[in-house]
Formats: sequence, structure tokens, C-alpha cells
Amino acid sequence: MLIAPSLLASNFLNLEAECRMINESEADWFHLDVMDGRFVPNISFGLPVIQSIRKASKKVFDVHLMIEEPGMYAEAFKKAGADNLTVHLEACPHLHRNIQQIKQLGMKAGVAINPHTPVQLLQDVLRDIDLVLIMSVNPGFGGQQFIPHTLDKIRTLRQKIDQLSLPVLIEVDGGIDLTNARAIAEAGAHVLVAGSSIFHATDPKSVISALKQADKQ
Ligand code: DX5
Ligand code: ZN
Repeated sequence: MLIAPSLLASNFLNLEAECRMINESEADWFHLDVMDGRFVPNISFGLPVIQSIRKASKKVFDVHLMIEEPGMYAEAFKKAGADNLTVHLEACPHLHRNIQQIKQLGMKAGVAINPHTPVQLLQDVLRDIDLVLIMSVNPGFGGQQFIPHTLDKIRTLRQKIDQLSLPVLIEVDGGIDLTNARAIAEAGAHVLVAGSSIFHATDPKSVISALKQADKQ
């Protein structure tokens, strides 16, 4: 199981220490949530912040764009240090073009879907992408409750991916903690994103280690 702590829930007053904690932990990726106040009703952080923290870690930077017209900024996110760039299906009328652009820039291409979007809509891009980000809350805010129907979506998508033998990772994002991680792993997820459950814990590193074991036993 790959673990991607979402920096959105970290202490922005002490980002250097938060980065160090992730570096020293068993976490695999940094999950970076970019919001534009248009696609989602919230604004988070953007390019300069990602560029700064890029200097503080060698781990994979997994950038989740919750923005309209992501194609306008793909190159800038590459320059800022993104390894994976994920765009929302709901924000992209020319999704295939966005995916090609991301790959041409040398990044892994991800497509995110909101809780109301069926996984079947990914069918015609599944061969072109590296990861699917299944939102298990409505995007825009950390600290929300996991939507249980997500488990069915993970199972359906995992079946499809296995059936076609595609190297696509299933990443799940929103409301993940130690009470539901195992069920999400069993449903077929490869990557767990977690914000609040990691950064609001008294011992974040041990939560990361425990999440990492979610697919064991
Ligand atoms: C929500 C973001 C998530 C969020 C996860 O819009 O995409 O990455 O930060 O935070 P928790 O784990 O607190 O739900
Ligand atoms: Zn996210």
C-alpha cells in the first residue's frame, strides 16, 4: 500500500518540520491539493509553495489539481516539481488532450472523479493514464467523512483494470483513517491519501506506518 499524506491538513506555520516528518516516515508520496475557488468552493495553495517545498524532499510529488482549465498550468506545475499531475474529469471537456499534455511534459497523468461520477466514464482513457484518483468526499475541504459508496466504485474499477491488465494505480482521497483503511485496501486501492488522520494525530509517523499495513494480514 502506498501512503500519500495530504499537506492540506498540516501546520502551514511550520511546513519545514512537517516536510521533515514525512521524509522520516514510511510515507511514499506528498499529496498536494491545489484549489482555485472556482472548480471547488475553496482556495488552498499553489505554485510558489510547491516550488519551495520541492527543495525539502525527494519523495514523489503527487499534485491534485482541483482547478478549472488545468491545461493552462500543467507546464508550470512540472517546473514547480510535480511528478504526478492529476486533473478532474469534471473540469476537462478535452480530457484526452490534457492527459497527452501531462505525459508529454514528462509527468505521470492522473484523472480524479467526484463522488457522483461513475467509474465507467473513465473507460476510454484508462489505457492512457497512470492513476485514477477516486474522491471519497466532495473535494474542497479536508476533515470530511468518508462516503461508503466509494468502496463499490473502487471494486468496479479494480476489476476493470485487472481484466485489462493495465498498470493503472487506484488512489483514494478523503476521510481516510485507521477505521476504514483496511476496507478501502480490500476493495482494491493501491494508494491512500490521508490529511487530518495523519497531521492531527499526536504521533503522525505511527499513523502513517499503520496505514501502510492496511493491506496486510
Ligand atoms: C479534499 C482533498 C483531500 C483532503 C484529504 O478536497 O483533495 O486531499 O485534503 O483530507 P482528509 O484526509 O482530512 O479528508
Ligand atoms: Zn486531494
